[in-house]
Amino acid sequence: MSFHHRDNYLYCEGINVKDLQDAMQDSPFYLYSAAQLRANVAAYADALTGLSARISYAVKANGNLTLLKLLRALGCGATLVSGNELRLALLAGFAPADMVFNGNGKRRDELALAVQHGVTVNIDSEFDLAHIAQAARDANKPVDVLLRVNPDIQPDVHPYVATGMRDSKFGIRAERLPWFLERLRHEPLLHLVGLHCHLGSTIKDVRVFRDAAILMGDLTTAVRGQGFDLRYLNLGGGLGIDYERAGKTPTPHALLDAVRGRLPGDLTLIVEPGRSIVGNAGVLICRVIGVKRNGDKHFIVTDGSMATLIRPSLYGAYHHIDFIEPVDGEPRTFDIVGPVCESADFLGKARILPTPHEGAGLVVYDAGAYGYAMSSSYNLQLRPAEYLVDGERVTQIRRAETFDDVMLAQSTLSVIMPRAESAD
Ligand code: LLP
Repeated sequence: MSFHHRDNYLYCEGINVKDLQDAMQDSPFYLYSAAQLRANVAAYADALTGLSARISYAVKANGNLTLLKLLRALGCGATLVSGNELRLALLAGFAPADMVFNGNGKRRDELALAVQHGVTVNIDSEFDLAHIAQAARDANKPVDVLLRVNPDIQPDVHPYVATGMRDSKFGIRAERLPWFLERLRHEPLLHLVGLHCHLGSTIKDVRVFRDAAILMGDLTTAVRGQGFDLRYLNLGGGLGIDYERAGKTPTPHALLDAVRGRLPGDLTLIVEPGRSIVGNAGVLICRVIGVKRNGDKHFIVTDGSMATLIRPSLYGAYHHIDFIEPVDGEPRTFDIVGPVCESADFLGKARILPTPHEGAGLVVYDAGAYGYAMSSSYNLQLRPAEYLVDGERVTQIRRAETFDDVMLAQSTLSVIMPRAESAD
């Protein structure tokens, strides 16, 4: 365990987190463990043994540049959902050949960038195909494409993170595939190299991956039968992690075992994990501002909020919360909330914890995925710093946002209309 308590103090690898909090004075901040990140990638690499496969890390889960460089050095590729993520992946040193560009609303400028760099692009709709073909013609360059299939599989997760159901906005229904294949025959610059699907996120029951593998394997065979030389099958990401600390969440091994043997041989499998790579490798560290009682309700008010970590507010997501130092006040049932002016601003509800003193440090676990990535400066709560622990070494891998950073975009005003008269 890269995060563990010793004598009631939280350690990240060899670092006492309270010492770090006191030394930096930064609060809140995100803290990552390099050892945990390596272990998570190794678990996938191990599970993929014997398969021709690629781990295409979903950059959206956590786009910190230093973490991306680490993941690239560990052999991962990158799954992207915007032109800016593509730029970021290039900065981190990922090879375009190891990237996949996904999305249901890719803009023309983003497609031009992908084509220019030779990134594989997912086709998500009729208009997407037309736009990709146009981008290829404009650049006079061939593009490898995948067709994103809507597999109509219910992954039994929060509706906001289910993406492969019949009514989802993502992907193409199987019955429409013939239309796309016909169009692709007339687009010589678009090379169909595989199929893609993504069922959703926080998946705990790996049987849905088995169902997807069977469906996608059959579709691959059918499309090959139409004369297309498919080489890849991309099964997306979505493996859940053990937020509840119940010890029951499936491993990459369970995922790959559900899939292995159900795919046509001679295919390269692509998996796109985000959460199961970075989720438990990161925590959010906050400080107690104060303790409050409203009748029989008790609140711990922290400097972390829905602006720092929105998952509890947005999905009702559970993140385990504890103190990072000895706290021995009377135990009570607390809601742990932030300072943002919204009743939706909470990090945890009904947690039994000892009553803390002002300034006590709190840890919100499993915040490495979709934590910083979804943070905002709502209420002008500035985005936090990020630190990476590697053994005994701590590196600041992003400084905290400042008031000046936020104001910079408003520092120059220009009149757009009415347009200035020309001088002549
Ligand atoms: N591939 C595609 C096409 C995706 O849409 C996603 C995530 C992934 C891979 C990575 O999925 P993962 O392995 O991380 O589950 N904000 C939500 C999660 C949204 C995920 C969207 N797509 C949350 O905080 O739970």
